[in-house]
Amino acid sequence: MAQSLFINPTPTLCFKGQSKNHGNVLFNANKPNPWKSSLAKSTSPRALETEIPTHWYNIIADLPIKPPPPLHPKTFAPLQPQDLSHLFPDELIKQEASDERFIVIPDEVVDIYRLWRPTPLIRAKRLEKLLDTPARIYYKYEGVSPAGSHKPNTAVPQVWYNAQQGVKNVVWQVRASYDQKPYRKLMMQTWGAKVHPSPSNLTESGRKILEMDPLSPGSLGIAISEAVEMAALNEDTKYCLGSVLNHVLLHQTVIGEECIKQMEDLGETPDVIIGCTGGGSNFAGLCFPFIREKLKGKMNPLIRAVEPTACPSLTKGGLRYHGMAPLLSHIYELGFMEAIAIPQTECFRGAIQFARSEGLIPAPEPTHAIAAAIREALHCKESGESKVILMAMCGHDN
Ligand SMILES: Cc1ncc(COP(=O)(O)O)c(C=O)c1O
Repeated sequence: MAQSLFINPTPTLCFKGQSKNHGNVLFNANKPNPWKSSLAKSTSPRALETEIPTHWYNIIADLPIKPPPPLHPKTFAPLQPQDLSHLFPDELIKQEASDERFIVIPDEVVDIYRLWRPTPLIRAKRLEKLLDTPARIYYKYEGVSPAGSHKPNTAVPQVWYNAQQGVKNVVWQVRASYDQKPYRKLMMQTWGAKVHPSPSNLTESGRKILEMDPLSPGSLGIAISEAVEMAALNEDTKYCLGSVLNHVLLHQTVIGEECIKQMEDLGETPDVIIGCTGGGSNFAGLCFPFIREKLKGKMNPLIRAVEPTACPSLTKGGLRYHGMAPLLSHIYELGFMEAIAIPQTECFRGAIQFARSEGLIPAPEPTHAIAAAIREALHCKESGESKVILMAMCGHDN
């Protein structure tokens, strides 16, 4: 097995393994790297020497004001671990409430991460040329994972901790996505999942919705209600979430930990770090380790979240449920980052420019980060500044 080649008997604090990985191609660190000579000549240099982190970074440990505790939806008292035990396995509940700075990534999870990690850090030289900017634009590309995005960084450990407790999982997908995104459903089914369009008639909450509206297209809220109900009623079933929760953001910090090292290897320090925010997980994953370095006074990048003007949350706030990670909202309130909103047409325009220069067709979400990076690069063109712009490119369009 190739994996056995990459175990380092003396791991350092945050990084382990002798693995060197170009995209998703692994090779033995003790043998000459067949990719190196061709890459050295490449116009898009990729950091090659990175290793997979052995720890996730928990930013809560470094915050001067801790985030307020989540409240019980019925009593409004702070949630206790036992309130969550029917939803999540014990280890994930601990991670949700932890204030430990570093949390060890289980070896078996690291082994699976090796399928696509470390992910490449790519300089967008062709985009720079197209924009005629003196800025240097880098993107950390999570699209090399099997699912084509950053999501497996947390899906894998969530499944692993659940499996340790003998949990079985099923998936509820919003009916509209079930019909409109058939490839996502097919991918999940190919990997062995049972996928139900929500609202379904398998749960009380789903049946109630269907009674009122048999053609309901579903919503994230309804799908969550069905999944939570299933988890609450069945001993062997738990609930998993792909964003928003503290432990999801925690797992995504492998992105930023790798990237700090990759930027160091290239001799670069970011002036601006940009990422899109839906629930906040890919953005937090890239930025939290950089915020740590910023708090230590090692660098001073601007950290900028980008959301759609059509459904803003950080830039509008308000008293409604906005679906943004509470931890990220707290960090925003503390002033460690800024947020902007960009209209869809500008995002699509940016995505086309990116696809036609860099070759990758981005997922809809990172088009927001791309548009913001292009804005920044064009400002640099006007001002003549050669800023280093680092962007989270969290997935491709599949
Ligand atoms: C590729 C991709 N990027 C980004 C997101 C937004 O989520 P988050 O803000 O948690 O990264 C999603 C949401 O599902 C996604 O599929």
